[in-house]
Amino acid sequence: MDQQFWQDKWASNQIAFHNAEAHPLLVRNFRALGLRREAHIFVPLCGKSKDLNWLAQQGYRVTGAELSNLAVNRFFQELGEQPTVSCGSLQRYEGGGFVLFQGSIFDLTPDLLGPVDAVYDRAALVALPAGLRDEYASHLTSLTRAQRQLLICYEYNQACAEGPPFSVPEDEVKRLYQTTFAIELLENQRVEGGLKGRCPATEPVWLLR
Ligand SMILES: C[S@@+](CC[C@H](N)C(=O)[O-])C[C@H]1O[C@@H](n2cnc3c(N)ncnc32)[C@H](O)[C@@H]1O
Repeated sequence: MDQQFWQDKWASNQIAFHNAEAHPLLVRNFRALGLRREAHIFVPLCGKSKDLNWLAQQGYRVTGAELSNLAVNRFFQELGEQPTVSCGSLQRYEGGGFVLFQGSIFDLTPDLLGPVDAVYDRAALVALPAGLRDEYASHLTSLTRAQRQLLICYEYNQACAEGPPFSVPEDEVKRLYQTTFAIELLENQRVEGGLKGRCPATEPVWLLR
């Protein structure tokens, strides 16, 4: 699963992971993070997610990181904002109260990102193949100085379908994060109709702090 895979998905508009509305699991569980208004939330691998808009509407400052320039440009087009763009190891787009870093998250540094108060990961960890998830989890933890996190995963029999999204079961979440965080399961929702319309699956929501 290389970066070209995702560039191709965006170029061909094959973005079934994108929801037209904020994710109900975010809306139901976000309060568990216990954040003050105006807290700064980092959204890794954010696509053009409506979750960004929902978080901003709650009064939070929102910064995302996304590989695809198509996704980032579409996000600002749909917002009706002309962002200012500055170049560096990643392109930094700023507009309408949002900052999106366009490029690989692995090139984002704590200095570029600045301090954040929390992380919201939906369809980011599960978008990455097993070989990259350890590197992602440790990079994300150091990038955000181990700030608390709301993490939405998928769990299903990986033999039933190829990822992405990949199945990231409880033991893997614990292996990746339990040396740094206390981990709590907030809920585990059944995926209606199954993953990809055929695999029984659940969407566990984890609170890491
Ligand atoms: C499954 S989508 C999820 C998008 C968003 N979180 C959502 O819920 O709609 C995964 C996203 O990760 C992006 N991505 C993949 N590898 C990346 C990387 N190394 N750095 C930043 N973004 C990446 C892809 O372009 C894609 O938009």
